[in-house]
Amino acid sequence: MNYGVVGLQWGDEGKGKLVDILAEHSDIVVRYGGGANAGHTVIVADTRFALHLLPSGSVRPKTTCVIANGVVVDPEVLGTEIETLAQKDISLDGRLLVSENAHIVLDYHKREDQLREESLGKNKLGTTVRGIGPCYADKTGRSHALRMGDLRDLQAFKARLQTIVEYKNKIFAALYGAEPMCADAIFEKCNSYAETFVPYLADTTEFLHTSIAAGKSLLFEGAQGALLDLDHGTFPFVTSSNSSALGMPAGCGVPATLVDQFIGVVKAYTTRVGAGPFPAEQDNDVGQYIRDKGNEYGTTTGRPRRCGWFDAVAVAYSVTIGAIDSVAMMHLDTLSGLKELNVCRAYKIDGQEKTFFPANTARLARAEGVYETLPGWDEDISEVRAFEGLPANARDYVRRVERLVGKPITIVGVGPKRSQTIFRQ
Ligand code: GDP
Ligand code: IMO
Ligand code: MG
Repeated sequence: MNYGVVGLQWGDEGKGKLVDILAEHSDIVVRYGGGANAGHTVIVADTRFALHLLPSGSVRPKTTCVIANGVVVDPEVLGTEIETLAQKDISLDGRLLVSENAHIVLDYHKREDQLREESLGKNKLGTTVRGIGPCYADKTGRSHALRMGDLRDLQAFKARLQTIVEYKNKIFAALYGAEPMCADAIFEKCNSYAETFVPYLADTTEFLHTSIAAGKSLLFEGAQGALLDLDHGTFPFVTSSNSSALGMPAGCGVPATLVDQFIGVVKAYTTRVGAGPFPAEQDNDVGQYIRDKGNEYGTTTGRPRRCGWFDAVAVAYSVTIGAIDSVAMMHLDTLSGLKELNVCRAYKIDGQEKTFFPANTARLARAEGVYETLPGWDEDISEVRAFEGLPANARDYVRRVERLVGKPITIVGVGPKRSQTIFRQ
């Protein structure tokens, strides 16, 4: 069986935890999009890993890990991640493949991300400042792009890098009055990247298709979430890749028809980091309760996450555009203790009720949530391991959400650990 795991909200739904669990029965785990803007938490016994580029299957010593063409790779971050795992006696040798076609995030991308965000002041997008937008922009622009495979020929790499840095320096000086960056210093680092990463480079598309033909089971790990999708999310408050399930085929060269089941991941409520419309946001005591209880602070940047009620309009949309088969609902435990729970079942926009999510920022900003109120529960559910063991109100909550989003909720998270997971099927 091949599985896809994708976020259905604005990221941080708990994809890392689910991928880690499913990886037990997968031969290969594939990251196909995003970059070090992602932060996927995996907890093994008492050790917590925050993975940015390595697939969340990497903590399992027998799993093959693929970073495919759609990922933008920051070699500095990837190198640190490999080292962190090595310090815990987890080696990636012989089981990591990095696409030669994946684009490289270099210092000038991060610098540009930072300069642009600063220059926007209160209109900034609230990016993770990991150079993601500038790197994908260079990818689509083509003329100033460098890919992991280019590290194989350092002489040619150096010449291209020099031209690019010259060009970037002119732009940074003209637009932001910024100090020039030193191409030699960047090249120095690239020299060591080449040493580390050339052994991992591969034609990952060929590898994946050969593996599929050999009957291996694959797990495709999405980054971010559908509502941050460049084309289908809340533009411009999105990331720079197709982070819905639609990005998977292009991001790794495997058609979605070869995925047997796409599992969409949601939290039992909604969070968002960074700017942009968020109709079900609760900038009040409820939001603070969720933030405190769910420890809602960014895995990559540490920023407090904005919190709100579960938004069924948004999730049903992500399910529809991604042809999602089933849903995993994480963080049900975080809602324990709230007297009443609201679920957003429709939006009121310009006096009209709508149930199809408008991925148009101006319209979405005018949307008011139309809520259904359900009774909450007080019990700590973090030790419950069977759906029937949950309080009746918690079961009713899951069932109601299931009906609103139109797909079965087959997995329920009741805590951050692997074991704190309920499987309904
Ligand atoms: P990802 O980006 O989708 O992989 O999610 P993150 O790792 O950024 O954020 C999810 C956070 O929720 C992490 O701190 C996880 O350890 C934690 N988590 C995952 N599932 C659950 C759950 O069911 N209950 C609770 N309380 N925490 C969870
Ligand atoms: P995971 O994979 C949550 C958000 C940023 C910002 C917007 C653009 O951990 O779910 P970018 O740096 O990509 O240009 O930022 O996207 N964002 C995420 N939010 N989880 C993520 O990844 C995110 N990756 C990017 O906060 O609003
Ligand atoms: Mg995250």
